Amino acid sequence: MTLPTRCSGKASCLMCKVTVDEQEAAQLAPPGEAEGRKLGSLLDQGFRLACQAAVKGTVTVSVPEDPLKAAVRRRLEAARSAEEDRLW
Ligand code: FES
Repeated sequence: MTLPTRCSGKASCLMCKVTVDEQEAAQLAPPGEAEGRKLGSLLDQGFRLACQAAVKGTVTVSVPEDPLKAAVRRRLEAARSAEEDRLW
């Protein structure tokens, strides 16, 4: 999977944000200054920047859903639910 990017890996766009399982987080090098500055408190929630995190072993990451796509998905689900309620 290729992650989208606007900054070409310069830790400025946040488009490569991923979450890492807490038990596998030790397989990543500690965040550098740029990653720490950009993510702030998100680091404590398990987020890392894929363009910055140096991998030392095998790591499974999760890619968060794009916020715009998530909003559209929620609206579609609500519309479908309302339509089902109307039909019954
Ligand atoms: S690619 Fe832009 S922050 Fe990682």
